[in-house]
Formats: sequence, structure tokens, C-alpha cells
Amino acid sequence: MCGIVGYFGKNEALPILIDGLKRLEYRGYDSSGVALLHQSKVLCFKAVGKIVELEKKISEDKSPHPPLLKHALDPEQGGAKIGIAHTRWATHGVPSEQNAHPHSDCSGKIWLVHNGIIENYQQIKKHLIEKGHIFKSETDTEALAHLIEDLYDGDLTEAVKKALKVITGTYGIVVFHADEPNKIIAAKKGSPLVVGLGENETIIASDVSAIMRYTKQAIYLDDGEMVEIDANGPRIFDSFNAEITKDISEIEWDINQAEKGGYPHFLIKEIFEQPETVMNSVRGRLVLEEGMAKLGGLDAVADKIRNIDRIIIVACGTARCAALVGEYMLEEYAGIPTEVDYAHEFRYKKQILNDKTAVIVMSQSGETADTLAAVKEAKEKGVLTLGIVNTVGSSIARETDAGIYNHVGPEISVASTKAFTSQISILSLLTLFMGRQRDMSLVTGQRIVNEIQALPDKIRKILEADGEIKKIAEKYSKATSFAFLGRKYNHPLAFEGAIKLKELSYIHAEGFAAGEMKHGPIAMIDENFPSFYFVPEDSVYEKNVSNMQEIKARAGKIIAVATEGDEKIKDIADDVIYIPKTLEMLTPILSAVPAQLFAYHMAVLKGLDVDKPRNLAKSVTVE
Ligand code: AGP
Ligand code: GLU
Repeated sequence: MCGIVGYFGKNEALPILIDGLKRLEYRGYDSSGVALLHQSKVLCFKAVGKIVELEKKISEDKSPHPPLLKHALDPEQGGAKIGIAHTRWATHGVPSEQNAHPHSDCSGKIWLVHNGIIENYQQIKKHLIEKGHIFKSETDTEALAHLIEDLYDGDLTEAVKKALKVITGTYGIVVFHADEPNKIIAAKKGSPLVVGLGENETIIASDVSAIMRYTKQAIYLDDGEMVEIDANGPRIFDSFNAEITKDISEIEWDINQAEKGGYPHFLIKEIFEQPETVMNSVRGRLVLEEGMAKLGGLDAVADKIRNIDRIIIVACGTARCAALVGEYMLEEYAGIPTEVDYAHEFRYKKQILNDKTAVIVMSQSGETADTLAAVKEAKEKGVLTLGIVNTVGSSIARETDAGIYNHVGPEISVASTKAFTSQISILSLLTLFMGRQRDMSLVTGQRIVNEIQALPDKIRKILEADGEIKKIAEKYSKATSFAFLGRKYNHPLAFEGAIKLKELSYIHAEGFAAGEMKHGPIAMIDENFPSFYFVPEDSVYEKNVSNMQEIKARAGKIIAVATEGDEKIKDIADDVIYIPKTLEMLTPILSAVPAQLFAYHMAVLKGLDVDKPRNLAKSVTVE
């Protein structure tokens, strides 16, 4: 949740901070703010709503100092070259200007932006109020600003160190003090921060999308680390206050990947990118001659993986739906008992793990707090942890013992699409890898390899039906509830299709394993309660057709996702979206696309912000 940007350098900070906030807006966007520091003068602006509201506020500013957009804090010096900025996803205190970050102390000299939750903020706030501090907001964050003030004794770095020893919870913070206009301080625990190393400038942000326009050199901070940034660049200290040197990573992504590229929304761009992103997920990783997957990221633990006799896949949301598909793959083709757990359940329930268990975590952002905590919990138990992550250098990627990157580029839209089909693609590679270590035959492996390689063209074929899918969305645009149904490999798609429709169009939807309908849900079916049914020609096709008949018999309307050439299905379904034939285990990669497009068009028809749905954020970095 939330996006943080800090700047210290040769250029004027404001345009870089605003640009950074716009690139991080998908991380949280109920309000935003910026604070600029220039020769001990501080200027702060905050606004509720999207970043464009903040820009408007700044440009309309009529306060006595020269209008900021001319960066004329000090004409001969140009605008402020130090600043911090934040786009918020509220956890404590409603989205309001008062609660927007940056937050300051009583003196108005200490300014702070924060991603995370300060769990003991009430006690701190109570104590400081008793000492005479005056609070202006309802947030947990403001308590940290006053605490730093309370501990400040002329050195901001020392005061921040002391304050961070007092608080509990998670933080990614950037802070400055007006009386020390020669540095900004940042610190990380549980929320991501990455330092961009420019030429005579340093940019610190929640993720590389705010940095990659200015530099490809990045340092990913680890928990407990603090950074002091000044004109000479960053100095990094570990939790023992020792100055340390960290690896500098090359940012893989380039800026145009984080642009819309002519599409009206990031979401539709990312849906249409899927032929390429599925290809990129498997590129260089398939060995047809051996019917095998080559996964360099697992080389160091290949022997440990050979001895695994149980797998738990842990994830949240859409990533968990992909994991459910992986469960079927790994059990059927690698013969390994596999179960899927919500990350937020995994970390709190009694786990029975041993050294033959592997915990696989899946996360597009690599920063989902519950999934990260699940990795740490698993490592506590000494089991092998593997990550399937899209964001290079993310906390989860660095925490797991080994892993496989998705390589789909930045996924900007809050609704996950290309990461989802990539996650399933990578699970098919992992199934190949583990299956061929066990009983999977060469022929079976080669058949899977061939079918994986054919996926991009098959996805392209489905995308050609976008116009028809839009028409189907128009036909059902007045519906207020939907059932999503599927069996076996496609029952996770029922859950995923429901997530897509809910989070994009705010229409209620529920996913069911189709066999479950008769055990209650079918009571809801009538002519006003349509079903979106995944019914490819697979091992449970006939069972699905029977379920569809039962819905039909109760006047339920059905949108079917069926296999090309299946004419019979038209006798039952009211509308049909076809997908090309493929291996049963790979159909979810294809059947996801119609569900994504349907949800996209339903949201557009309702005039909603498809890239930044209300109440959501791209990366849930708080519990
Ligand atoms: C997906 O459309 C949602 N935005 C959400 O469920 C997401 O999949 C979930 O929060 C997990 O995120 P992660 O993959 O970054 O861990
Ligand atoms: N807990 C802080 C607040 O509610 C920060 C939330 C965020 O990470 O955006 O303001």
C-alpha cells in the first residue's frame, strides 16, 4: 500500500516527486502530498484523491511565496532540490487532507512520509500528548514524527534511530529536518524501499517504477537498514548502526513498459501483452529434446527439490488462484501431494512441516505483507522456500531460498492479469522440472513443452474475440450478481473470474467449484442471476454440461468459455466465448483471457477507473 518518493540532488525536486507519485499511484491513491525543503524553508501541499488533485492544488496556490510550479522558491537557485512525497492507502484515519502524508511534528521542522503500520502508535501518542505534543491527524504515522521530535537532540539521524527502536510494526519512511537541510533519512522494516543512484542525485522510492526514468542503478534496502542521503549520495547503515556497502542492481525494466503505449488503460494493455508475457515467462526455460524445463534460479537447490515429498503453495488473491491451478498440475504430473494456503492463514495456523516439505510463495509484487510473513514463518521451521515473483529484488524474492522470476515487466494495473497467466505458465515449468525428476516420461514432458510453446498464438486468437466479448458485457451490464463456475483445472478460474469482476466493476460475483452448486448456491439461480461457466473439452466436460443443464432448467443465463469447434454448447449456453484446444492442465491460461476481457468491459461500461479501482492498492504491504 502507498507510494513513497524522496529526492536529494542537483535537479528541482518537485517535478521528479510528482512524476514518481504518478508512477506509484497504483500502489495506493486515496490522497497524496509533497513537502519541499529549501534553505530551512518547508513547503507542503496535500490533497484528497488522485495525484492530479495535488497538482491542481499546487498550481492554484496563491500563498505569498512564489508559485511553486515555477519552482521559484528561490529564483536564482531554482526550486527546492530536496523533497519527500507520498500517495496514501489509508489504514488509520479516513482519506482526508489532514490525514494525508507528509506528516510533521509540533515545530513544523520534521516532515515524514510512511508506508506501513505503527502498531503501538496509541501508546506513543498518549505519552506524547501528556508531554504537550499537539496532534493534527488521526494517523498512526504522525506519532512517529512527534516521537522523533521528542528524541531530537540536534542530529536527525540519531533521533530517527532512537525512535525506530521504540515503535513496533512496519515502516518504510523518508524524513527530513528543516534545520538540517543537507540530508534526508530513510529506513525500512516490512515495507519496500529502493534507492536509485543518479548522477549527483539520489531518488528513494517504494519501487523502481518511480526511479527507472532517472537511473538504472538501484540498491534494495533490507529490513532494519537506514539510509542517510546527502549531496554525496547514500550511506547505508545496518541494524547495528554499522555503515555497510550493498550490491547495486541493474533495473531490468524500462520506462516505456510502464507507459500505456496507446491503450486507454494499463489493464487492457496488460491483457493484450499476454502472448508476449507468457512467452517471456518461458523463454529460454524449455528444453524440447529432454521434455524438460531449465530453471536457473533453482540450480542451487535442485537436489533438495528432488527429495521433496510435499508442497504447500502460499499466496493471496489472484496469485492464490494461480496456485490452485498449480496444485492440480503438481499432483497429476509430478505426483507430489500439494496444497494451497492463503498466506494470511498459513502464518497463523499450526503448520506440520518437515525437511521434505517445500513452501512455494507466489507474489507479483513480491511485497505482499502476509506472503512475506509466511516465507519468514516457513524459514523459521527450516523448510525449503521457493518464490515465484515478478518484481526483481523485491522483499519476497530476497527472502526465499531460491525462485523463478516471471519476467512480465511492471504490472501497473491493480487487477492482476499478465502476472496471473505467467504464474500458471511458471507453475507448468516447475511441474515439468519436478515431474521429470520423478516419474514423468520424456514423451509426456515433450508434449507439455510443445503445448506451452503454442500458447502465445492461442492467446492471440482469443484476443481477436475482444469485440464479441465487449458485446456480451453490454448484454449483461445490468446484472447485479454473477456466479463463476468451473471444475478441476478450471475451478480456480471460477474464483479468479469472480475476483476480476468484483475488483474492476464492483459487481458482486462468487466463484464455485461447479459440483458445489447443488449443495446450496443453485438456490440463487434465476433469470436475473447469470453464470460465467468455464467448460472446455476436458476430462470433466460431460459433468459440466450436466451442471449447465441444471442452471438452464432454472432459467439461469449462461456465458460459456468453451473449446473451439464445440457446437453442442450453443444449445445450452446463451453466449459462448471460444478458446483453442490445449492440454487440460494449460486451459486455465487460455480461459483466463475471456474472463479478464469481460471484467474489463463491464468496468468500462460502468465508467469506472479500471486501473485504480476504489479501496484497492496494487501491493498489499500491510497486514
Ligand atoms: C489481483 O487482481 C488483485 N489485485 C490481488 O488479489 C492480488 O493478486 C493480491 O493482492 C496478491 O498480490 P501479489 O501477487 O503482489 O502478492
Ligand atoms: N498507516 C499509515 C496511514 O494510515 C500509512 C498507510 C500507507 O501505507 O499508505 O496513513
